[in-house]
Formats: sequence, structure tokens, C-alpha cells
Amino acid sequence: MKKILILNGPNLNMLGTREPEIYGHQTLDDIEVLCAEKAKSLEFGIDFRQSNHEGELVTWIQEARGTAGGVIINAAAYTHTSVAIHDALKLLDCPIIEVHLSNPKEREEFRHFSYIESVASAVIAGHGAAGYEMALEELKKVLR
Ligand code: DQA
Repeated sequence: MKKILILNGPNLNMLGTREPEIYGHQTLDDIEVLCAEKAKSLEFGIDFRQSNHEGELVTWIQEARGTAGGVIINAAAYTHTSVAIHDALKLLDCPIIEVHLSNPKEREEFRHFSYIESVASAVIAGHGAAGYEMALEELKKVLR
């Protein structure tokens, strides 16, 4: 069974109370449950993580090299700033799907650029928590 690493960046641990008009009312725990259920139906295992620290995310990405079947990443604010996460993702040989709850391209200009986009097989944005389920489905297609 392929193991999918699902990474969440800074402030996503605050979902549920953080700007619910933008990010919805579901907590990150709720999203993990959704992902676990969807993954089970697709015969994937998941490793679901969150960190507020760029270096920790980089280390987890490095560790995924050769072990993860795919990576789903919502790098949150690091999407728009992190060359380090971009470089780490380039080390991987498995498919990468970029996910956002909101659609950053329709928000402030400083959110329009993504360091993840150029290394991702697909970007799913603006679908709320369902975007994570869509990302798992996309991986199923890509890995077929
Ligand atoms: C986000 C969008 C980012 O611009 C923002 O910094 C986040 C969340 C999203 O899921 O919509 O923290 O990645």
C-alpha cells in the first residue's frame, strides 16, 4: 500500500477559529479524518503532519525521499516565500500535489506567486477541505 505524506504549514493548526470566512469551520483534525477516510477508499496509507517551522517541513520532505508514494502539501504562507521548501521538493521522485483551502491567486497580490507550483504535478485551490480529498484522487490517477 502506497503511503502518502500530507504536509501542512504554519497556522493551519489554528483552522476552525482562524478566519473561518476564508478557511471554513473545519479544524485540521477534521481534515485529517476526511483524508484518512478518502485514503482508505483509494487504498492509500497516510502520514498527516503540520508544522509552524520551515526547517521541520524541509526535514520531513527530505525523509520522504524514497519512502513516500506521493506528497500533498499545503505549505500555507511558506508557499509564497520558501525557496528551501521548493528545493527540498525537487529532491523527491514521487508526485507532488499543491493544495490550498482558499484560492491565493484571487487574494492579495503577495499570495499570487507560489514556490511550490513549479514542482507540483497539480494545484488544487479554492475548494476548502474537499481539496485534500481531490488531491488524493488526483494522486490515484497519476500513480495508476
Ligand atoms: C493557504 C493560503 C495561503 O496564502 C495562506 O498563507 C495560508 C493558507 C490556504 O490553504 O488557503 O496560510 O495555504
